[in-house]
Amino acid sequence: MILFISDTHCAYHLINEQIEYAQEELAIPVSCVIHLGDFGIFRPQLYDFFIRKNGSFLKPVYFIEGNHEDFDAFDSLMKKYNNVYFTYLSRSVVTEIEGYKFLSLGGSAYMDAMTTPTASVIKDHHIDDCLEIHSEGVDIIITHDCPQGIGVPNSPGLEVYGQTGFARGDELARHFSPKLWIFGHHHKWFELEKGNTRYLGLSGSRRGFALLGENYECMIINHHIPFKKPSFLSKALTFLRILRPNGPSH
Ligand SMILES: [Fe+2]
Repeated sequence: MILFISDTHCAYHLINEQIEYAQEELAIPVSCVIHLGDFGIFRPQLYDFFIRKNGSFLKPVYFIEGNHEDFDAFDSLMKKYNNVYFTYLSRSVVTEIEGYKFLSLGGSAYMDAMTTPTASVIKDHHIDDCLEIHSEGVDIIITHDCPQGIGVPNSPGLEVYGQTGFARGDELARHFSPKLWIFGHHHKWFELEKGNTRYLGLSGSRRGFALLGENYECMIINHHIPFKKPSFLSKALTFLRILRPNGPSH
């Protein structure tokens, strides 16, 4: 089964811990992982996990970008890590994985300059590029943010940003009529059936994951991984809003 996870915010080890939980505790084999953004593409953390500690993932990991990545260094980091330790699914492309055709669209709606750097924001041309794809060429849409208008509630304190989600998602839904649309970013479980589409929002990676099997059967697995005592470095990064381990919202 494909394991969907989101919002690790540099805590890459959570991916392996959730794979192990699925396989060892639930006895469900995991073929690969699709990560729905806020992976934590930051040079020091990637170096520490993959190079210094010789870390690796237990299964192939695909990911789309969120809004909390280092976009200034993104291209250079992809040259080093992409297709070696994980596989990046760029915006507005279709990738076949385990027999499903996934349309990937990383990034998010604009919130503010700190939360959503310019390169993270979903623009009209990304949507236009998606709409160029044949309507039958996509089975499942994967995004970091949710499409606007499906009713994902704002996290307390973030109402000032207006309704959740990125614009023109409804055009994608009408064009592709996907059976499934999975997203992260909001750090809360969310489910909605609308038209032919089941929308599924993932909670943060410490709270669980989703598993997709055959015939679009997708289930939510609640599995809480508690925090360990944070290091001084992670405390400092959290203070600077580079890491957001509590995942208050986006
Ligand atoms: Fe996010």
